[in-house]
Amino acid sequence: MKHLIDILDLSREEIEDLINVSLDIIADPAKYKDACRGKKLATLFYEPSTRTRLSFEAAMYELGGNVLGFSEATSSSVSKGESVSDTARIVGLYADVIAMRHPKEGAPLIASRVAGVPVINAGDGGHNHPTQTLADLLTIRREKGGFENLTVGFCGDLKFGRTVHSLLSALSRYAGVRFVLISPEELKLPGYLISDVIEKNGIPYTETEHLDDVLPDLDILYMTRVQKERFFNEADYLRLKDSYILTSDKLRAAKPTLSVMHPLPRVNEIAQEVDDDPRACYFRQAENGKYIREALILSLLEVNV
Ligand code: CP
Repeated sequence: MKHLIDILDLSREEIEDLINVSLDIIADPAKYKDACRGKKLATLFYEPSTRTRLSFEAAMYELGGNVLGFSEATSSSVSKGESVSDTARIVGLYADVIAMRHPKEGAPLIASRVAGVPVINAGDGGHNHPTQTLADLLTIRREKGGFENLTVGFCGDLKFGRTVHSLLSALSRYAGVRFVLISPEELKLPGYLISDVIEKNGIPYTETEHLDDVLPDLDILYMTRVQKERFFNEADYLRLKDSYILTSDKLRAAKPTLSVMHPLPRVNEIAQEVDDDPRACYFRQAENGKYIREALILSLLEVNV
């Protein structure tokens, strides 16, 4: 039984295979339209989502399968006190694969131990978001052609931003990668990621509070939202939420080949005027999420087309 809980559950070769299947789906979607006929995906979302849940559901429909689930815990028996473990065990009797988002770190891992079907972590607290990383990697492949020799700037909430944690782990396996970590002091990348991922893999990195100073060096700028839902007090959130706002004026200093990524949703951190800049690829990134989730569902259900 294969699950996807952490991006490092997948080898580089497995990620390469998923990307290649995604590219084939993009080239010839009709070939896949009945691939999951008779199969069911359950989306168990204990936290809000637009892209992840709906792209999973669209992915399953485009493969000819069906979808069941809930988009808020209050509409399920979770509101009566049912545990993640019992919920997963029951839903595993009704569905062939489960995608779960939960505010508690580790909840999808617990579900994977009892569900009896593949479980996909669709975001667990401030921890990991491996399917966003797959969407990010497909985007980097399509925008940049590969993953080596890139200088990648992560900007914003590096403490709570689970998409940053997963993407940084995935990119650490490629040669010539450099990281530039741009955040306020209070939202720096957790120390365990610096020691266990960046330093352990011998990756050159710098930390700074100033985006303008490093923008000209970057091949990819990965902007992130300050994660309001993870703060303990509102005053801190209000003080930090607009730490970085990317504008067209600021982008004048960047490379013409820069790719501006963002997992979305955005709040204020990228001005709308940037959307028209060809270097802005965050909407293409969201679209890629659907294709790579199709490839992931096919892989976990062991469907060959
Ligand atoms: N990127 C992402 O996870 O978006 P949603 O929260 O809308 O799913």
